Amino acid sequence: MPVNYRNIINAAEMLRQGKLVAFPTETVYGLGADAENDVAVASVFTTKGRPPINPLIVHVAEVEVLERYAVLDAATHLLAEAFWPGPLTLVLPRHPQCKASKAVSAGMETIAVRIPSHPVARELLQVFGRGIAAPSANRSGRISPTTAQHVAAEFAEAPGALAMILDAGASNVGIESTVLDCTGAFPVILRAGAISEADLQPFGCIAASPATAPDEIAPLHSPGMLASHYAPRAQVRLNVTQVEAGEALLAFGQTPLHAPHQRNLSPSGNLAEAAHHLYAMLRELDENACAGIAVMPIPEEGIGIAINDRLRRAAAPRP
Ligand code: TXA
Ligand code: MG
Repeated sequence: MPVNYRNIINAAEMLRQGKLVAFPTETVYGLGADAENDVAVASVFTTKGRPPINPLIVHVAEVEVLERYAVLDAATHLLAEAFWPGPLTLVLPRHPQCKASKAVSAGMETIAVRIPSHPVARELLQVFGRGIAAPSANRSGRISPTTAQHVAAEFAEAPGALAMILDAGASNVGIESTVLDCTGAFPVILRAGAISEADLQPFGCIAASPATAPDEIAPLHSPGMLASHYAPRAQVRLNVTQVEAGEALLAFGQTPLHAPHQRNLSPSGNLAEAAHHLYAMLRELDENACAGIAVMPIPEEGIGIAINDRLRRAAAPRP
């Protein structure tokens, strides 16, 4: 559905009725449910095929609404002022009288929350008035959607599972939010994203080292961050300097490499542009029934850290 006020009012009404609505955020499209409705939240898990041990992010329009769900201390307020609205998710202690379904926390005493900056997400959240639980609107383990068409393709075999998809074009950032665990002695980055390690360092945040994440830290703190994730159908090969027969090429920057099917994440070598294109180009190359997808090296800096994180998961052995 195109974005207009009437469709946003309808989307909020469907959420109130316990239905699922896919909506745009600045990172990726989300599969939204009323965070306070147990049945609606349960249907998010079944619709995605998501294991119930993998908790969801609750999205809100403003910090005041968070008091229904989480405990915010002074340090959290500083992070909120610096980065919200925007692509940062904070894992906080659940409020003792938390109104969100226990399923969003996968039974844990913590809750992940975020104030998105996308104008359509904000308008929907404002009209709805409380929290919307929303994972990325893809089937579990697949590539996250950055357009309404991606969402429709993901759930094409489950007609009626989604009451509505709000179409606001391509998500600007293109990869999921940075997830920051604020429940320990100091904040720890659980998932890299557009808000980089360097952005968060002044706030005393540390990154879970690549040696320990996702296999050691993730199962303890962020059960959903399995090694194999964001996976296209084709095998993915990273840091290539040559393309093998039958492979498609995902290029970055200027290159002499060629393949019958190829896309360039950013011919000028711009990492934000690469993040914006990453999932759409992986999907396009995956549609060509190629033997595999060969990916050129991406610099490990800024949002490049998040891009490489997603690519490593896409290349990881499948369960
Ligand atoms: O950008 C985003 O974050 C998108 C948009 C729609 O907001 N959402 C998204 O949701 O990526 P999802 O469900 O695909 O990823 C949420 C991540 C998972 O890795 C999950 O394990 C982690 O956040 N998470 C959620 N609640 C948590 C909690 N209480 N403790 C630790 N990790 C949590
Ligand atoms: Mg996801």
